[in-house]
Amino acid sequence: MKKSKKLIALALTLTLAFSMLTGCAGGNAEGEKIIVRVGHNQSTEHPIHISLVAFEEYVESELGDKYDVQVYPSELLGSQTNMVQLTQTGAINFCVASNSILETFDDVFEIFNLPYLFASPEAYHAVMDDEELTEPIYTSTGEAGFEVVTWFDAGTRNFYTKNTPVNSPADLRGLKIRVQQSPTNVKMMELLGGSAAPMGFGEVYTSLQAGIIDGAENNELALTNNGHGEVCKYYSYDMHQMIPDMLIGNIEFLEELSDEDRAVFEKGFEIANTVERENWETAVAEAKEKAETEMGVNFLYPDQEPFKEAVLPIHESTLSRNEKLQEYYDMIQEYNVEYPAQTNGEEAK
Ligand code: GCU
Repeated sequence: MKKSKKLIALALTLTLAFSMLTGCAGGNAEGEKIIVRVGHNQSTEHPIHISLVAFEEYVESELGDKYDVQVYPSELLGSQTNMVQLTQTGAINFCVASNSILETFDDVFEIFNLPYLFASPEAYHAVMDDEELTEPIYTSTGEAGFEVVTWFDAGTRNFYTKNTPVNSPADLRGLKIRVQQSPTNVKMMELLGGSAAPMGFGEVYTSLQAGIIDGAENNELALTNNGHGEVCKYYSYDMHQMIPDMLIGNIEFLEELSDEDRAVFEKGFEIANTVERENWETAVAEAKEKAETEMGVNFLYPDQEPFKEAVLPIHESTLSRNEKLQEYYDMIQEYNVEYPAQTNGEEAK
């Protein structure tokens, strides 16, 4: 994090801490607007930011006399883990968190972190759009102090490295690869033979530059939006995970909304989801083009089977340990049959 960003983050944290102590996180005094704080870790060009601004505009167009929605990008409110904690306590109202890290707050989220869970992007989208499947998951986390209000597409996750092209799991041996702070991802790296370095997203660029890690794994936007393609010149489509980002809201805030206000917020969540997904595919295509032509990143299309074979034991071990996941897993398999994989690697090209 740059120095100025750190200072802004510090000032915001102090303001939030103060508002929590004085009990006016929502600015509820008569005549005052209720401030609705939404945090995320992406830049202002990212589809997630664009969609949250659309959410802000919609809610304020309907209820602008009552609510002032403020969107904080770029980890200004801290890392995703920090922001989830702030959402739990109500210091902020909403944040975007990768499903990966949510499994440390409630183990129901382990389901969407399983590598090679979805047979294709079409199966992934159909699952995430099936409210009968997602609602029980989204609303089962009340005890953790938050609920998922909508999801965002975050594409497919693939390995990218500084010096070593990854064409098979054997190429990961001896490499230190940044993963998200999630036990499933650490386990996944172990099974693939690499060494997992869990850390927050904001630390990845400097860790790559400093040689603390040899690579990372993410969607294509990390190369351009986050500059990782300046350092990593090999991006390898093993397509190990499709992990949604979740917009989560503080449970008390949501439950205390009047029916009318809640309806406006719900419509706003829907708008955010639509806008993000409308922007996603173009953003990926542009990122890939820029990474290839301007940054000199090489895109590789390895056989995915050896990667799959190495990590599939996670499905079995997770389902036997966390039994409530089985019903969701079975429903997902039905979508996998309906939307099977295309020829290996073709989807990435
Ligand atoms: C993606 C995802 C983020 C996540 C990041 C990460 O960019 O959209 O929510 O924080 O990956 O790897 O940490």
